[in-house]
Amino acid sequence: MNLILAIDTSCDETSAAVTDGRRVLSNVISSQIMIHKNYGGVYPALAKRAHEARIDFVVQKAIDIAKKNFQISNFKFQIDAIAVTQGPGLAIALEVGIKKAKQLSVDASLPLVAINHLEGHIYSCLGENSKGLPHREIIFPALCLIVSGGHTELVLMHEHQTYEVIGATLDDACGEALDKAAKILKLGYPGGPVIEKLAEQAFQNFKIQIPRFDREARRANFKFSTPLKEKTNLSFSYSGLKTQLLYTVEKMTDQDLGKNLTSLAFSFQDACFEQIIRKTSQAIKVYQPKTLVCGGGVIANKYLRKLLRRLAKKNKTPVFFPPYKNLITDNAAMIGIAAYYKMRRKEFVKDLGKLDREPRMEL
Ligand code: KG4
Ligand code: ZN
Repeated sequence: MNLILAIDTSCDETSAAVTDGRRVLSNVISSQIMIHKNYGGVYPALAKRAHEARIDFVVQKAIDIAKKNFQISNFKFQIDAIAVTQGPGLAIALEVGIKKAKQLSVDASLPLVAINHLEGHIYSCLGENSKGLPHREIIFPALCLIVSGGHTELVLMHEHQTYEVIGATLDDACGEALDKAAKILKLGYPGGPVIEKLAEQAFQNFKIQIPRFDREARRANFKFSTPLKEKTNLSFSYSGLKTQLLYTVEKMTDQDLGKNLTSLAFSFQDACFEQIIRKTSQAIKVYQPKTLVCGGGVIANKYLRKLLRRLAKKNKTPVFFPPYKNLITDNAAMIGIAAYYKMRRKEFVKDLGKLDREPRMEL
């Protein structure tokens, strides 16, 4: 058995999960969206306080649910290791999870595994339900695309848990840009899901088929620039698009904004994703990966998934997304799955006293 109790408190979700290898026995996520909504983004001190208030309950609930889902006769339910997100994330939020994980590790004399949150987003694609489905393997070399609120990265994996970052954002992350756009459009937080809904309405209003970039759909809407056009450049940039949106909106009356809201949302989202597809396509051409692995909160977007599926098909590359919805945005199950691979190599924290949060941790 490889039962791992995992914790993630990197941002605004307090999450605990129990995983058995890649099988997810429980994945409890307590969201703080209602707390941060009025600030248009995550307010760190409030996030820390909410994590502290919820962590014990969330961990207990994860254990209780896992016990019910653990139905292997002749085996006793027994946690083998604790896993926790060490970074990247909000320092004072990460601290809460690490403190709890250390305490659990000491109390039950269990080894502790420290995980990079981005590694978790990659491994979310290998998640299975309690029956072991879907079961799939990454074929290497793999190209990983991480699109979240804090990161937009292309990462090459030659084998399990070896990473080479080949492209990253020079300024804002894609999810961050969508969140900032929603703030400019006065749509609340988090921005990604609201913008997705409005963009879907634009599809219907304009009777737009899935657009081909730079063709009819884009002509019918607002124009945004195409950042970092050079074909050899795998970096991303989003702050320019955000500024263009801000200038466009500033010139509009409230009435104009209301009338053009769906169209603006569509065009902005389209510009954000055009960059993802263009850069991923370039990376596929150069590195010829055998699998495309996509993770991070923005991957929840159906339109983005459609575009990525189409790109993968064109290149005859199998593409993986997190197979279950609760594995997409921040969650502890993905940390447990990544930890399983570290546990197999016996990569445990050697000195608990020295384990500290790493807010800017890199892959
Ligand atoms: O991975 P995640 O939960 O947290 C980080 O590690 O950053 O990603 C959160 C981001 C937010 O920016 C949020 O707006 C975005 O994911 N997001 C979406 C959707 N759902 C969440 N973006 C686009 N479409 C969605 N449906
Ligand atoms: Zn995340």
